[in-house]
Amino acid sequence: MKIKSAEFVISNSDVSKCPDSKLPEYAFIGRSNVGKSSLINSLTNRKDLAKTSGRPGKTQLINHFLINQSWYLVDLPGYGYARVSKREKKTFQKFITAYFEKREQMLCAFVLIDSRHKPQPIDLEFMTWLGEHQVPFCIIFTKADKMKPKALERNINDYKAEMLQTWTEMPQYFVTSSSSGLGKEEVLAFIQSINEGFLPQH
Ligand code: GTP
Ligand code: MG
Repeated sequence: MKIKSAEFVISNSDVSKCPDSKLPEYAFIGRSNVGKSSLINSLTNRKDLAKTSGRPGKTQLINHFLINQSWYLVDLPGYGYARVSKREKKTFQKFITAYFEKREQMLCAFVLIDSRHKPQPIDLEFMTWLGEHQVPFCIIFTKADKMKPKALERNINDYKAEMLQTWTEMPQYFVTSSSSGLGKEEVLAFIQSINEGFLPQH
């Protein structure tokens, strides 16, 4: 899919103030620093559409980006960031969970997992929560450029084995690098295939 336009629309911490539209949207969620905002930039061929940082905790709000005037990418704050206060964590959690519970046009969440790490309880628990709330999701293994191919393959296989302890199937997954562009076309093609079922055909 060709990205012809990508524009920032609104940031907020209140799901009821997200864009009043029925256009399909896709949310990026995962631990702080896993590369959510970078992947949005990579997918849209922009350097600075979503704000990124080497320090965790950069994205703090729900951010909507309108793509090709017809669907949204949604950048969310990361979870598991140790340096925010307990109260802040709770507030984050509340508006993130409210977003997933209420936003019906959110057609698929991309749960980003750092491909360098072993399965982490916080990610597994979050995916369980999504499953329990019937929120459709895929997994994206990020930062693949930081791994040697064999080690990457081993980590992904370990991840599959871990998922199959609780899930009957491994969810659909992608392997990406925002620096090399690996996996980008696959993610965009997947989004396009879902959009086609929802948008009026020309
Ligand atoms: P929060 O907003 O804090 O939750 O983080 P985030 O998940 O949005 O991460 P962000 O995109 O800001 O990236 C965090 C750091 O990882 C930055 O220094 C990025 O340059 C780096 N990074 C992200 N994706 C990749 C990747 O695919 N490869 C490499 N090598 N670095 C990456
Ligand atoms: Mg971010």
